[in-house]
Amino acid sequence: MHQTDFLVIGSGIAGLTFALKAAKEFPNKEVLVITKAQADETNTKYAQGGIAGVWDAEKDSFDKHIEDTLIAGDGLCNEEVVEIVVKEGVERIREIIEWGAQFDKEADGDYKLGREGGHSEFRILHHKDVTGKEMERALLTELGTYSNIRIFKHCFVVELITQHHFGYLVTKATPDTECYGVYVLNRENNQIEKILANTILLATGGNGQVYRSTTNPFIATGDGVAMVYRAKGKIENMEFIQFHPTALYEPGVRGQAFLITEAVRGDGGILRNKNGEAFMERYDSRKDLAPRDIVARAIDSEMKITGTEHVFLDCTHMDQQNFMEHFPNIYEKCKSIGIDVAKHMIPVAPAAHYSCGGIKTDIWGCTSIRNLYAAGECASTGLHGANRLASNSLLEAMVFAHRAFLHASQHVSLKNIEDGRKELVPDWNAEGTTDPKEMILITQSLKEIQQIMSDYVGIVRTNVRLERAMKRIDLLWQETESLYVTTTLSPQLCELRNMITVSYLIVKCAGFRKESRGLHFNTDYPEKTEMAQNIIL
Ligand code: FAD
Ligand code: SIN
Repeated sequence: MHQTDFLVIGSGIAGLTFALKAAKEFPNKEVLVITKAQADETNTKYAQGGIAGVWDAEKDSFDKHIEDTLIAGDGLCNEEVVEIVVKEGVERIREIIEWGAQFDKEADGDYKLGREGGHSEFRILHHKDVTGKEMERALLTELGTYSNIRIFKHCFVVELITQHHFGYLVTKATPDTECYGVYVLNRENNQIEKILANTILLATGGNGQVYRSTTNPFIATGDGVAMVYRAKGKIENMEFIQFHPTALYEPGVRGQAFLITEAVRGDGGILRNKNGEAFMERYDSRKDLAPRDIVARAIDSEMKITGTEHVFLDCTHMDQQNFMEHFPNIYEKCKSIGIDVAKHMIPVAPAAHYSCGGIKTDIWGCTSIRNLYAAGECASTGLHGANRLASNSLLEAMVFAHRAFLHASQHVSLKNIEDGRKELVPDWNAEGTTDPKEMILITQSLKEIQQIMSDYVGIVRTNVRLERAMKRIDLLWQETESLYVTTTLSPQLCELRNMITVSYLIVKCAGFRKESRGLHFNTDYPEKTEMAQNIIL
């Protein structure tokens, strides 16, 4: 058993921002960061376009960024939260610059600002087309300067510990559910260990892996959301899955799809169908720079009309020198598969990209469970509403990690790590479990869930499709629960279980929403209802 002061689950931008702040403020306390993979294997590392912020105060303003965010969110953003993130975000960007993150600059030393769909101004700071990699590098380097931060890699958090584990009945209605720590599968010794903590932050990222085609890496399996749901915490708006319009189409490639950043369209890239038509003008006056939900649906519709599996992103008319400077990673990737962007159009298709909903928090990152904060993609703070504005998520992650830290630091002295009840937390009980006879069953179920979600719960939904999805998920759930109670735990089995839970939550929320709004489009209810409502499970 390990006991710590601050336990941070996840080593992406949200987790590391919180960890750095806690370590600096409390040099005598330990901050423990746990991650199930390598420290930098996160959604954060793959962010391309950049981080949005009102940087050029002459042309841009907080009001404009707020308005763009609200328009994208389609009536469901929490306006207080939008104002907080936009206004406090600039300070957080300054902070990561102080920690060493480099953003591209113009010859005169000002930051180069990019533009993406839904933004009325150029306001996106970036590091070529590998912004996330640079930010993650800076954060991890800064982390290395603190002796009171420990990082446990390849440790898989299986479950949150609450009163439930020492025999109390915990339901959704329990007012004071409290988190005491976590059970962790240590992959070095394959043992399940207890880690207890005063303050716990979930920063477990997204869930793109529940779909067959996603821009997210393999770690993005929605573990945090699934754990909070099982612990009877509140989960919100899971139906709002953002599909990025332009993932590179590579037939036969499974797993993570390579992203072609929206910044390419910001610099002039044009979407064309197989007949070479620039089709976006038929769908929206903002054409290729309309918000993502509109562009992804337009592409989906063009693919269905023309019977193709992709459309094209045409960059052949763009200044190639600029292209290579701004997008060297994309240039090289295309070249490696025989696409010369100066001569050939890039085949692209939408892919699951971002989860707008998640663990419900208040404006301080507090979840409905005491001692448990959430920040970053796993959280639903109210910023994104029904659709996230491009490049707002890195910003949100930093703002809410900071706010969670502020809240935790004010309440830290009140915590009761000595509380006798902690002694009651039992060890993990693996009695009666045996090694799985066929690991392949887990892999097959994983493929099935991805297939179900892609076929029935994609960009365009119907009641019949949602019902079909639910029936199939239910069967997979039963089979997986039976494996879970009878076999020795593995990260693969735990991830499958979490992905099934997250898929269930997406379908459940989608079923409750009797309208089409933002990222959720159901042809049985094509209009928006008059009153915008959040769905909380
Ligand atoms: P992550 O960075 O995903 O980190 C999650 C961490 O949790 C990982 O360390 C993981 O190992 C750990 N973890 C998860 N489950 C467990 C478990 N059970 N046990 C232990 N550890 C666990 N946003 C923008 O604002 N601008 C962009 O330009 C942009 N581009 C993007 C491009 C791509 C290809 C992708 C995929 C996303 C992009 N996004 C962008 C979104 C943004 O990158 C993410 O939303 C953000 O980085 C999430 O950060 P996070 O800290 O919440 O989670
Ligand atoms: C992109 O670079 O297109 C992704 C930006 C984002 O997801 O915010």
